Formats: sequence, C-alpha cells, structure tokens
Amino acid sequence: MSISYYGLQALKLSAESVYSFDLDFHEEGFASPIMQNRLRTLGDIGTNAPENWEWGGNDTDRANIHLLLMLFAKDDANLKQLCETFEKDFVTYQLEQVHEFFTSKMPDAKEHFGFRDSIAQPEIEGYSKKNASENVIKAGEFILGYSNEYNILPESPYAPETEDKKNILPTIANKKGYKDIGKNGTYVVFRQLEQDVKGFWSFIKKATQEVNGYDLERLGAKIVGRWRSGAPITKCPIHDNPDLAQDNDFNYAETDTDGMKCPIGAHIRRSNPRDAFMKEAKKSILFARKHRLMRRGRSYGKLFVENFDLNEILTKPDDGVKRGLYFLAVNANLGRQFNFIQQAWINDGAFQGLSHEPDVLLGSQTEVAEGEKTYFSMPQMPIRQRIETPQAYIHVRGSMNFFLPSMRTLQWIANL
Ligand code: HEM
Repeated sequence: MSISYYGLQALKLSAESVYSFDLDFHEEGFASPIMQNRLRTLGDIGTNAPENWEWGGNDTDRANIHLLLMLFAKDDANLKQLCETFEKDFVTYQLEQVHEFFTSKMPDAKEHFGFRDSIAQPEIEGYSKKNASENVIKAGEFILGYSNEYNILPESPYAPETEDKKNILPTIANKKGYKDIGKNGTYVVFRQLEQDVKGFWSFIKKATQEVNGYDLERLGAKIVGRWRSGAPITKCPIHDNPDLAQDNDFNYAETDTDGMKCPIGAHIRRSNPRDAFMKEAKKSILFARKHRLMRRGRSYGKLFVENFDLNEILTKPDDGVKRGLYFLAVNANLGRQFNFIQQAWINDGAFQGLSHEPDVLLGSQTEVAEGEKTYFSMPQMPIRQRIETPQAYIHVRGSMNFFLPSMRTLQWIANL
C-alpha cells in the first residue's frame, strides 16, 4: 500500500514531516507553479494534459486520492475474495474507494502493441547474481536508507523525535533530534498510459512506404529497440532471433556506436543509453546507473486482437475499447530518476545530438516548436533513413506519485 502527499496529510503527519518528503512528491493545486512546472517537465500538456485524464486530473479528485492499494492473487477467484475482504475493511475504517483499476493478463509478458516488456530490469546489489554487472545497482537507488550510486544515503523524509514517543522509527544520519520516516520505503510513480494499437501500427504501415527495406516488424523493432519477441536489435538487426527474447546482456558503444543497428532514438536506447551516452563507455555506464527505474507496470483493457497478428490489427475496424499500461516505477529520487528519464531522454527532441526526435512511443513533442515536424531516423550506410512521426500513439490518462512506506513507518503512522 502506498500513500499520496494528500494521504500523509490525512493521516495526520505534522506539517514539518510532510514537508520533508521529496519536493517532486509535493502536491499543490494544478494552478500552482510547482504543479505547472511538473506538467511541463513531464510533457503532460496538450493531449496528455490533466483535463484529458480519467482520474487525478482535477484538484478535488486529486485531493481525495490518499492511498494506492495494489492487490495481487494467483487467479481471479482469489483476487475477488481478496477484494471483498478489503471492501469490508474499507467500511470498518471509513475509507472510500475513489477509483478502481483492473489489469489484464497479457500473453508472453507482452504489452498491447505486441512487444515483450519488462525484460531489462536493474537488480539490487547483493540480492541477485544473474545479471551483467552494469545492471546490478546500489540499493539506495530504489530503497531509502541505503547507500546509492553516489555512495551516499539518499535524502529521506523525517519526523521530529518528539513525534515518535513510542520510539518506533529508526534514527536518521546527520539529523540530530529527528527520526527516519523513509528507511526501507520508496517512491512509486503511477501513470495510466493509454495505447492506440490500431493507430500505432497504421502509422508504421504508412511509414514503411517512406523507407527502403523495412517491413512492419522491422520498423517497429527499430522504434522500440527490440523485436516483438523481445530480442534486442543491436544483437540481431536484420532478422528476429526469438532465442534472444529475454536477453539483456548487451551494450552499444563497441558494436553499435552510431546506432546503425539500434537507432539512438529507439525507446530502449534513449530510456537507458547504457555505455553509449558519453564518449567514454565506462563513464557512460556510471552515469546511466544514476538514472535507472524498477518498472512494475501492468496492462489494462482487452487485447485488440488475440494473437497480436499485424494483418488483423490493420484490417480490423477500431473497437473504441480503452487499453494501455498502468505504468509503475519504483525509485528513491523522483527528480533524478523518473522525471529525468521522462524529460531529458524520452521527451527531448535533441536527445544525444538528434534533432526534432522525441521518443516515437511516448515523446510528447513538447520540445518541438509549433508547426515544426518530428522525425525518427535510422542511421544507415550510405545515408540514413528517416520517417516523419506526426503524432504520439500513447497518451497520459492519469498520473500521481506515491510513497511506499516500510512496515515500521506504517506502525508509527498507526500510532500517531
Ligand atoms: C505504454 C507505455 C510504454 C510502453 C508500451 C513501453 C514499452 C517498452 C518495451 C516494449 C520495452 C522493451 C522491454 C524491456 O527492455 O524490458 C521497454 C523498455 C523500457 N522502457 Fe518502456 N514503455 C512504456 C513506457 C515507459 C515509460 C513511461 C518509461 C520511463 C519514463 C519507460 C522506460 C523504459 C525503460 C527504462 C526500459 C528499459 C530499457 C533498457 O534498460 O534497456 N517506458 N519499454
């Protein structure tokens, strides 16, 4: 269970404690400079603006969202039972359910466009041994109270020790007279991202006619950076290789510096440029490690076609069903992790020397002046190929940040 900024206030944390949380977690009305700035930073303007959201898009609804409760069960029957138990608790504890989100079961861990997702995840140092070392990240990037990639403790919210009479919270380093609310907790970004499956593939179909040598699958793979099977195109640029479907052991600097295989503007290369963001590969990895996310999204809405068949997607009339991804990202520093990736890597049309090229999947095109066009280019010999990207096919339909507390912090809150 995670708590919103308004939730902390409703749970009667003192103003000083609430104020000590990450500034990017603070909430004020949408008219306030802090919120206006956040909307611009994240590209939540135009078609992504709060007036088009299904929840959290106006101040009243937002202030009523206090908790995010995520229920997981092994099958529908167990989930139903779990929901019923909680519904009874809501009555007992005078809680009101303001929104309910159902997720869908997606075959082969795919998202709605048909690409396998959730392959590239950072792993926490000391927790696992199976990933390449550049993907093993210090715990403090994802959990407060532990050393991070700067070898320091992340900023953690705190409470005056006078507010912890039962001595439940741990002490906080370098802050005499205060206790640590954040330790073993973290921040969760929750965004509802609606996907236009037919629009996306129809755009790609049209774009194949603007370039030579690309069919739907290959152009889609260039845009994402992985084939729909999940195989990374930097390793198999011409044909899919399903044997590499879950491969995450690759970099770009040595074998794909200029993006001839995986374009620099591909979704996965810009959301984690690995060793190719700076001239020096080692420095680049150190930099990229400070901007990682633990993604835990879940798709919602009925599949457009059962088997992701591209011909069927292109011929079937639009069904008007809302579908997409409940994007969930865990990070210890909202500004340096989620916000940075979204603003500086995904939305920025000038990412790594590109020009007018925001992410084709998610770029809000806010970095491009009105009337100018956006593009996606694929470096190639003797000359690059480029397609026009007239609009985005993923739109924000709700967004809010939450704090996921430790058990100790929950116990402290219960005793306030
Ligand atoms: C509906 C929205 C989205 C879709 C359909 C989508 C799709 C994908 C797919 C298919 C992959 C490749 C699978 C993998 O490497 O795990 C991927 C990777 C990734 N995406 Fe997204 N994504 C979405 C939203 C976002 C957002 C909002 C962010 C962050 C701001 C993001 C950040 C990433 C990152 C960091 C990776 C892993 C890159 C790597 O380490 O190589 N994605 N996404």
